[in-house]
Amino acid sequence: MSNEDVTIERIVAGGDGMGRLADGRVVFIGGTITGERVRVEITTNKKDFARGTALEILDASPHRVSAPCKFVASGCGGCSWQHIAVSEHMSTKVAIVHEALRRTAKISEAEVLELVQTGGSVSSQASRTTLRMATLRMAVLPNGKLGFRRGLSNDLVETSPCLVAHDLLNEIIASAKVKNATEVTLRCGASTSEHGVWLHDEHGRGQVTGLPSDVGVGIESLVHEVIAGVKLRVMMTSFFQSSLEAAELLVDAVRLAAGERALSGVDGRVIDAYGGVGLFAATLLSADVPVSVVESSESSCRDAVVNLSKHLAETRDTSQPSEIVHSNIEQWSPVSAGLVIADPARTGLGPLAVSRLVATKAPRIVLVSCDAVAGARDLRLLIDAGYELSKVTVLDLFPHTPHIETVSVLQRSNR
Ligand SMILES: C[S@@+](CC[C@H](N)C(=O)[O-])C[C@H]1O[C@@H](n2cnc3c(N)ncnc32)[C@H](O)[C@@H]1O
Repeated sequence: MSNEDVTIERIVAGGDGMGRLADGRVVFIGGTITGERVRVEITTNKKDFARGTALEILDASPHRVSAPCKFVASGCGGCSWQHIAVSEHMSTKVAIVHEALRRTAKISEAEVLELVQTGGSVSSQASRTTLRMATLRMAVLPNGKLGFRRGLSNDLVETSPCLVAHDLLNEIIASAKVKNATEVTLRCGASTSEHGVWLHDEHGRGQVTGLPSDVGVGIESLVHEVIAGVKLRVMMTSFFQSSLEAAELLVDAVRLAAGERALSGVDGRVIDAYGGVGLFAATLLSADVPVSVVESSESSCRDAVVNLSKHLAETRDTSQPSEIVHSNIEQWSPVSAGLVIADPARTGLGPLAVSRLVATKAPRIVLVSCDAVAGARDLRLLIDAGYELSKVTVLDLFPHTPHIETVSVLQRSNR
């Protein structure tokens, strides 16, 4: 392993700092900040790039801070941006989005500056209402307590209390003792104080003790959360946004991007693609607007049926009934629409899903992306399919981490 001194040019998607080695190759180094000079130990050597570990910060950024969470020192790898001042997180995320739009979506610098705007940020502590505390081999410490992984290893670090977890989850983390489970999902409803635990054990041998008496346990347990005044049911196996604040900010950003007209249904049916438990449809649409929620997870569809029961009832006897479609987008038969809201998983839409969404001929598409590079790739596909990008809003929904959420709005062009 060789050592070298490197200046960090910028922070890249994924959160590492990037610099250049003396031989001209780029090197990626975790735990570093733009402008810093660091002594790096090279740990991975490839033809075009290298990875390394910072052995010493020779010239520290003014934005370097001591980690606010004490478990970073014991190696918890849950939140990798604790060395960067919270005040710098949003601007760093915006810079990563700019880079992805320029490099991957091939949008000019001048256009990028016009298109991108800053949205809201979730408060930096005690917000997360869903946590997956897990490793591939072992979900709990030998004493049965819950933990997080140490960096990229399978070792666990005890993290009670967790800085970013909602107090209701910290109660569980402090008291639960788990046996025979490989992973554990904890979830609470911040607005209802309900909480649940799901042990991911294939053989049904998992056991949890020490929980407060009102905690639901098992795959069928569920919580409710109130978002934008609407009460939503969320089963433990269904996807839900990471916190109440995150869900509220995202719903607001999608509302602004979609616009009143498209949400009113006058332009046609709304497609809530990758709709989860129906978060956007239930909070943004009045019950008489025909909507198709398309979602691949069975439990999310079951939740969506409950959460959209008014919408399903109100349009049942009309020529345009609302529907919950249990399907992959890639296998879905597109229908004509006035608005598509698409919120895919981290891998993004990809060409097949884009072709399905474009086949709706919707005048407007709102794309929610939780990965800056995958989002930029999808935007390029949509632009090439005849849509014009008019705005990209960057949200910071995961404090102390490099995760970035963007909400983009595209208009079908007349060419
Ligand atoms: C990022 S979540 C968004 C869910 C919802 N819009 C929300 O904000 O709560 C993505 C959702 O897409 C679903 N999903 C993943 N791949 C899918 C696919 N190929 N087709 C349809 N749904 C998919 C997942 O089950 C998950 O519920």
